[in-house]
Amino acid sequence: MPLLSTPKRRNGRGICQSPILLTGICIILLAVVLLVLSQSYLSPSRLSRLKAKLHITGFNGIRRFGPHKQHVSNERFATLFHLELAERFNMAQGRDNAHFDELIATLRSMESVGITTVVFSSPWGFLQPTVGPINFDYLDLLVSSACQNTRLKVAFIFDLVRAPQWVFEKWPNAKAADSHNRQYNLLSWFHPEANQLALEVLKEVVTHLATSHAGCVTSVQPAFNNEYEAKYTQEHDCFQDYSTSALTAYRQWLQARRPQLADLNKRWGTNVQYWEDVAPPMLEAGSVMGPDLKLRYWDFLKFRELSGAEVLNRACSVVHSGGIQCFHHVPELFTVLVAVYGTTIFKHIAAHAHTDYLVVDASFSTSYGSPVHPTKLRLSVAAAIGYGKPVHLGAAVQQSTGYGLLSSAFRTALLADAAGVGITNWLPYTSLNNTLKETLHPSLAPGHPEGGGNSTATCAKGVVSVRVGLFIHFDSCAAWHGLQWSSDSKDPVHDFIEAAAQELTFECAPHLSVYLEFDRLMAALPSLDRVLFVEPLVVWAGQEFKLYTAVKAAITKMPHEILQFPGIQETEAADLTVLAEL
Ligand SMILES: *[C@@H]1O[C@H](CO)[C@@H](O)[C@H](O)[C@H]1NC(C)=O
Ligand SMILES: *[C@@H]1O[C@H](CO)[C@@H](O)[C@H](O)[C@H]1NC(C)=O
Repeated sequence: MPLLSTPKRRNGRGICQSPILLTGICIILLAVVLLVLSQSYLSPSRLSRLKAKLHITGFNGIRRFGPHKQHVSNERFATLFHLELAERFNMAQGRDNAHFDELIATLRSMESVGITTVVFSSPWGFLQPTVGPINFDYLDLLVSSACQNTRLKVAFIFDLVRAPQWVFEKWPNAKAADSHNRQYNLLSWFHPEANQLALEVLKEVVTHLATSHAGCVTSVQPAFNNEYEAKYTQEHDCFQDYSTSALTAYRQWLQARRPQLADLNKRWGTNVQYWEDVAPPMLEAGSVMGPDLKLRYWDFLKFRELSGAEVLNRACSVVHSGGIQCFHHVPELFTVLVAVYGTTIFKHIAAHAHTDYLVVDASFSTSYGSPVHPTKLRLSVAAAIGYGKPVHLGAAVQQSTGYGLLSSAFRTALLADAAGVGITNWLPYTSLNNTLKETLHPSLAPGHPEGGGNSTATCAKGVVSVRVGLFIHFDSCAAWHGLQWSSDSKDPVHDFIEAAAQELTFECAPHLSVYLEFDRLMAALPSLDRVLFVEPLVVWAGQEFKLYTAVKAAITKMPHEILQFPGIQETEAADLTVLAEL
């Protein structure tokens, strides 16, 4: 069964082109570049220096607080995605063939281990296989299984990216395509008519759920990515979207800002003759080692960020107008996949008035197979909480995921004030028994070292707390084109942030807030005792640069430390690229 809603393990090296395209020249060039870069990349010694830097002991002006205030949050969810409903419960074969009793028994068992919400999903193509009415019979059957037989609430993921075949027959250009011109049977959100239709269908579905299952269906996620996450792509780690609709939208966006092609050529150092030849660079994960600071790259990222956020926010507004809460799943935040996935849209959707809550997805291994320490989740959850919405942690269960690891992840998230936790992809691997119940409801008492805390007597009794703000300029995490396959550190952003997280443990360490944007840090400064400021790599000229300067001036008046992203020389002067605005 494919992993749903989880960062997927990549096959092989994840580079988006076919091996044929990797010519010998590329390999040699790569080797040379790497040789140079390896001098400056995050070596073990740099890592330990970073760790040393992050220690907060011996710091003057520590305030003492009582024990960390903990919300008791009882929200627990578990997913039953469309494929599971179809394969395990035969739900796709009509009312008479569905294993309805088995589904109800499963839902009751879910309830008995303390799960409060079941998350169902359906693809658009399944609910409306032909032009014509939506299959509300199926939807009612599914939702009633929970609403009429248990006290579970239902959250529903409407998988719009899996549009019906007839949509693609009507508009062949509505298919998403990647930088290597691979087309997918997935809806491109740049196709205006197809996207408009998707929103109309969304409205119908939401209105139906709100009226027919009032009070039981609490929320809907409009999903535009095949992993149900608020991002552009999951396929081949390859940049999207390069469909004709996307390219047209990009050219219009550019033209509105730079009507003269000559200006754009000057900006990018290109020599394009006609507007219809204007295109983003051919981006593929892992082909460039180290940060990319070129304007032609950042212009495309900016376009994807703003247009993607607009699509997701508009969809949430539609959900709201139907009278139901809207939520998004977001991938883990701090990784070199931020640019590939277009995850910087997170800032806009998290802040949007019609986003009611967020689910941060976590898996326990990186995309290249190394384990992820649960403490890193604390930073992702804290960053999301910074936007003022309830945040849930969704853990992707795999065969190898032990209960200890799950429990530790949940404890970490709950200590970081997550509103709830839940499991996805659990059905094949997990029994709904007492062990799971305990795992879902971990003890939050101090002294459990597995949460990333430190259980020494010192830590457990005198809780010394400093309010620390960690600033990580989220856009700068998008400077990498994806996994650094040929480097020692495949994901320097992940390694850097995980090292930071491991130093900022719970019991002995401070209240920690994470900020991704300058204005949010600026507003929070009066409430902070200390700032750990990761120097950005890129800042847009204009308003953002002004804020950056103001923040830098403000933090010099308080205890602070400046950290550098890995791969960046630790010079006295900040090695900052200021991007001219379009
Ligand atoms: C619950 O099921 C798991 C297997 O999924 C098993 O390892 C565990 O011992 C069971 N716990 C109880 C209390 O039966
Ligand atoms: C726990 O914290 C104490 C004091 O801060 C430190 O000396 C000790 O090494 C830490 N233990 C672990 C396992 O991190």
